[in-house]
Amino acid sequence: MVSGTESRILMATGRTPTNIAVIKYWGKRDEALILPVNDSISVTLDPDHLSATTTVVVSPTFDRDRMWLNGKEIPLSGDRFQSCLREIRKLADDVEDEKKGIRIRKDDWQKLHVHIASYNNFPTAAGLASSAAGLACFVFTLAKLMNVKEDCGKLSSIRRQGSGSACRSMYGGFVKWTMGKDACGSDSIAVQLASESHWNDLVIIIAVVSSKQKETSSTTGMRDSVETSPLLQHRAQTVVPGRILQMEEAIRNRDFASFARLTCADSNQFHAVCLDTSPPIFYMNDTSHRIISLVERWNRSEGTPQAAYTFDAGPNAVLIAPNRKSAGLLLQRLLFCFPPPADNELTSYVIGDKSILHEAG
Ligand code: ADP
Ligand code: DP6
Ligand code: CO
Repeated sequence: MVSGTESRILMATGRTPTNIAVIKYWGKRDEALILPVNDSISVTLDPDHLSATTTVVVSPTFDRDRMWLNGKEIPLSGDRFQSCLREIRKLADDVEDEKKGIRIRKDDWQKLHVHIASYNNFPTAAGLASSAAGLACFVFTLAKLMNVKEDCGKLSSIRRQGSGSACRSMYGGFVKWTMGKDACGSDSIAVQLASESHWNDLVIIIAVVSSKQKETSSTTGMRDSVETSPLLQHRAQTVVPGRILQMEEAIRNRDFASFARLTCADSNQFHAVCLDTSPPIFYMNDTSHRIISLVERWNRSEGTPQAAYTFDAGPNAVLIAPNRKSAGLLLQRLLFCFPPPADNELTSYVIGDKSILHEAG
């Protein structure tokens, strides 16, 4: 029970960066537990540019749980929010704030309600992995408020149940989400492959092609792909296992040529699976295709990769350069092809100046 006056509230705030997969997760073998059909590898972005910030407040005066996303109330009734809330409440512990005269015992969390407000500093539901940052932050902030002391593995698995990609926003640097074998998902968790300082020279440029909400959510899109795409099965069983090993080696050796080749190939195969889905899903648009051609032409003309591209479930480009010099040249090329402001196909560029860093909140 919360002691003291009824108006006393307790709150916690967290910030979590998004992560972009270089070997994509696309397809679940278990929809309820969110267990993937293949391993995936991602890079965690700099939270100054792409992150979710969430505040959770608890008060005895609240009569139900409520949530606001980017200032608009959204229903919390969905299975994913509910299962994260339920799991965190189960792990909640005593909280005492002497200054405020507040004491909450762990059993009280079952009865107390929370209000949650979250903001993304980048487009939501537009293929820049807002669900990864959003759901990871949701779990992190609730756990902070409720004094959860669980280890990273357990929290990663709760985040996974909010949105698959969210389990990878647990760590900075390069992260692998292992699909696992266990039917209940206990071994389907994220592990850090390399910390943010391992490959410090990399620079990530996000080219925002459209910040509009996509027509097909990742959840719906991958469900349709699992049901209808023969290419998805081939990709998951035959192609991705080898790519995961090669990508781990490329990251370990800071081998940009292999890293770029694998990243671009995997993005293209993921979008091929989307086209192979019935009805086909078009996440990229003409501008996305022009960006691919621009990078491919540059890489071919130099004889060795100067930049990598990857597109999630949306038209926006995530471009990775091996160092600041290449990033500068890439930006010049982008600005030449899409000069602002006359050609407003590209709405903005976000440049991760310290590469891909940051320890997740
Ligand atoms: P994206 O490509 O941006 O990850 P998805 O279709 O996977 O798009 O997920 C978008 C959904 O994720 C949103 O409709 C919302 O339900 C959820 N989401 C996004 N940001 C947040 C946030 N900050 N807090 C909670 N949920 C969020
Ligand atoms: C293309 O994690 O958004 O971004 O688990 O249904 O919430 P749900 O899907 P989500 O899917 C991400 C798909 C992707 C690739 C990736 O992040 O690995
Ligand atoms: Co998502």
